[in-house]
Amino acid sequence: MKVVILGGGGREHALAWAVQRHHADWKVVVAPGNGGTDGPFRNLPVAADDPNAVLELARAESPDLVVIGPEAPLVAGVGDRLVDEGYAVFGPSARAAEIEGSKVFAKELMHSHGIPTAAFDVYSMEAAALAAVRKGLFPKVVKADGLAAGKGAIVVETPSEGEEAVRLLMGGKFGAAGKQIVIESFLQGEEASAFAICRDDQFLLLPLSQDHKRIGEGDTGPNTGGMGAYTPYPRTTPELLTRIRESVIAPTLRALAEAGRPFRGLLYAGLMIDAGVPSVVEFNCRFGDPETQALAPLFGPGFADALYWSATGEGDVAELERSVLDGGAGGETGTGSSSGNTASATVVLASAGYPGAYDTGARIEGLRRAAELPDTVVFHAGTKRQGDALVTSGGRVLAVTGTGPDLRSALGRAYEGVSTIEFEGKTFRRDIGHRALK
Ligand code: AMP
Ligand code: GLY
Repeated sequence: MKVVILGGGGREHALAWAVQRHHADWKVVVAPGNGGTDGPFRNLPVAADDPNAVLELARAESPDLVVIGPEAPLVAGVGDRLVDEGYAVFGPSARAAEIEGSKVFAKELMHSHGIPTAAFDVYSMEAAALAAVRKGLFPKVVKADGLAAGKGAIVVETPSEGEEAVRLLMGGKFGAAGKQIVIESFLQGEEASAFAICRDDQFLLLPLSQDHKRIGEGDTGPNTGGMGAYTPYPRTTPELLTRIRESVIAPTLRALAEAGRPFRGLLYAGLMIDAGVPSVVEFNCRFGDPETQALAPLFGPGFADALYWSATGEGDVAELERSVLDGGAGGETGTGSSSGNTASATVVLASAGYPGAYDTGARIEGLRRAAELPDTVVFHAGTKRQGDALVTSGGRVLAVTGTGPDLRSALGRAYEGVSTIEFEGKTFRRDIGHRALK
């Protein structure tokens, strides 16, 4: 088998690693990849969101499976182009990816099918949105319709903050993404991420995880792409999983199929859980980053089979759901895995200044030592090779994952890994998992 993974972040490194770990004989190519995928896999310098370049790559490589990591190529229809040419693709069509690409589409789909989500209204005129945002209960949330790199949702506490958010999102800076906005009520509860590997109306659910979006400890400061994650969500119960399956994932897949947009790939439900009852905060059409870096060591060989099933229909979904985690656990890199490990935690190392402006080009030391730690694996995001050295090349640089029999030991492993790695400006949160450990 040959698998091409499109994208160049920590998520794509983790996906490549999880596939290769259990299928040493498979060929794994990453495009464009990063400094960590360059070596263990083959990197090809192709931008994932350039459909013509991706097609050229596919023709040259003849992969058995193409896994599309980020949302931008999915929303832009890169998957459709590949499917049209007969390639097996993990990732939805552009029409199905609208579940992430358009908040208006997602909210209206949920509303018309009784899928739990915050009450909302849609605005395409700034004056009407300004009038609405001044009234009613606070906090509320103002969201751009389109993709906005994590900056398109603003929680507002007062009418004047609301006006500011409307003006910011609709004022032109967000382009087409801000032509329409959603104003919705604020949901109370605890956030968790549910990932389902889907094929039309069938799916298998992965363990729930939690992410840390803010840069600062205690969940303060600006939003980032994600500073850490862990799995499983500690308040997972069989009842909660049943609710997520029956009131969120299954009806969403049915609704998409009925709308002529069958979904194949990863459906990510960002949930707010209040007293054990989930509501949808948002949907994404791809794996989460850094949740995937936390989940990856728990995956067994069935994980790659599940991706292939989603793309081709080959395999039995019930059987795959049982096997997707079998044989995983233990993020071993050098010294053997501990197969009893069921918890995993990821700490992201970022460049100083992120999510604002940051420097790149800092030399990264200590990776070899980190690779020798048991139950630890380091995924790369913003790194590149420079001669013999690895240097920083992005805001989020590395994701250090530890596994253990429980969350506390997994976090201990991850932070031990963090302490062995050095680069100028190394920035990370020391409180990953704080809500779970309370
Ligand atoms: P989104 O882009 O929709 O995922 O929103 C980004 C973040 O804003 C979410 O992860 C939540 O922390 C917060 N958020 C969005 N919508 C709501 C809501 N209706 N109630 C509470 N928090 C929200
Ligand atoms: N971890 C948040 C995201 O992937 O969107």
